[in-house]
Amino acid sequence: MSKRVLLIIGGGIAAYKSLDLIRRLKESGVSVRVVMTKAAQHLVTPLAAGALVGERVFTDLFDQAQEFDVGHIRLARECDLVVVAPATADLMAKAANGLADDLAAAVLLATDKPVLMAPAMNPHMWANAATQRNLKALRADGRAFVGPNEGEMAERGERGLGRMAEPEEIRDACLTLLSDGPLKGKNAIVTAGPTLEALDPVRFLSNRSSGKQGYAIAAALSQLGASVTLVSGPTNLSVSPGVKRIDVESARDMLAACEGALPVDVAVMVAAVADWRPSKTAKKKIKKGEAAESIELTENPDILATLSKKTKKRPALVIGFAAETDNVEANARAKIARKGCDWIVANDVSGEVMGGDDNQVMLITRDSAQLWPRMSKDLVAQKLAAEIAAAIGGKATRRK
Ligand code: CTP
Repeated sequence: MSKRVLLIIGGGIAAYKSLDLIRRLKESGVSVRVVMTKAAQHLVTPLAAGALVGERVFTDLFDQAQEFDVGHIRLARECDLVVVAPATADLMAKAANGLADDLAAAVLLATDKPVLMAPAMNPHMWANAATQRNLKALRADGRAFVGPNEGEMAERGERGLGRMAEPEEIRDACLTLLSDGPLKGKNAIVTAGPTLEALDPVRFLSNRSSGKQGYAIAAALSQLGASVTLVSGPTNLSVSPGVKRIDVESARDMLAACEGALPVDVAVMVAAVADWRPSKTAKKKIKKGEAAESIELTENPDILATLSKKTKKRPALVIGFAAETDNVEANARAKIARKGCDWIVANDVSGEVMGGDDNQVMLITRDSAQLWPRMSKDLVAQKLAAEIAAAIGGKATRRK
């Protein structure tokens, strides 16, 4: 059976592009059903959208005929993916807050399927703190986003971030989310970024990890079909469509978030977790005169070792990272033994790896060691995801 998209067209000028999106999805063999908001109908007609999909377009929560015919609950569930394009500021606000006062909002609340949003609005509306708050909430709820892009606005002379992604980009994001990759049905946790260990409300101990490698691994696993929870320390990165992100600061919070996400099939611990935290965190800012001469430290829990040594709910495959400068394989094997994980990806950090776009790694499993050539962090992520799929996935495809 072909994959089914439920397309919710919101009331933005970009709604006309959604007609092109329908055509492109159908060309890719995806069947499309359409819901239009009241505002959208001022911009494109249900007749036009209906002609393209070859069936009626759903517009009204309180229309008896429409409700008896299909009903909003069935609309929300009888599809493989819900796509909101254009996702207006209003629709995002409704979805972020769980409102259900029209058909589109009710469908978004009732669906149990992945949701992809393609925001489109004026750059000021996009940058507004309320919209950014809603975006953060929707991301945390696991909603996927494509765009918005930077460019010319419908309003004369305005440019900025807020233009809806092009129909081809939205179609590609849909096809990724609809794909039956080898990790379909598998759950993954990835940790990424630094942890931040507070000394007082304004000071902390941390490190220079950018989070790039972990974010790339989360994206690569998701592209192979896994449901991914990314537990992230503070970074400036945005998360890939479909990945659920949990933001944390300290190592202890990171551990709690990981434990809360169990059971999973694979755990990839990429975060640069601070090994130590200040033994005391002052509730108030420490004054110059009050500061002790030295900071007493307490060891943090080891998240990789804790997950590896679980007797209940241990992930089938636990992967750690190791920063090494010499004796890479021997040190990594000792780390596998010490922490109880299955594989180690050993980075050679003698070059400019921290914060850079490239990485040089060796993948060490219990019975093999492969030195990979220096390559981009994205490529390392894709190769690692392919190895994970080969180890625990369905139809495994090894990419070299
Ligand atoms: N790790 C963790 N929790 C910690 C410390 C580390 O989960 N409290 C994980 C990291 O995410 C990474 C691996 O353990 O996967 C790194 O191990 P670590 O012992 O910190 O080794 P290195 O950073 O390589 O440094 P060293 O060998 O010097 O200890």
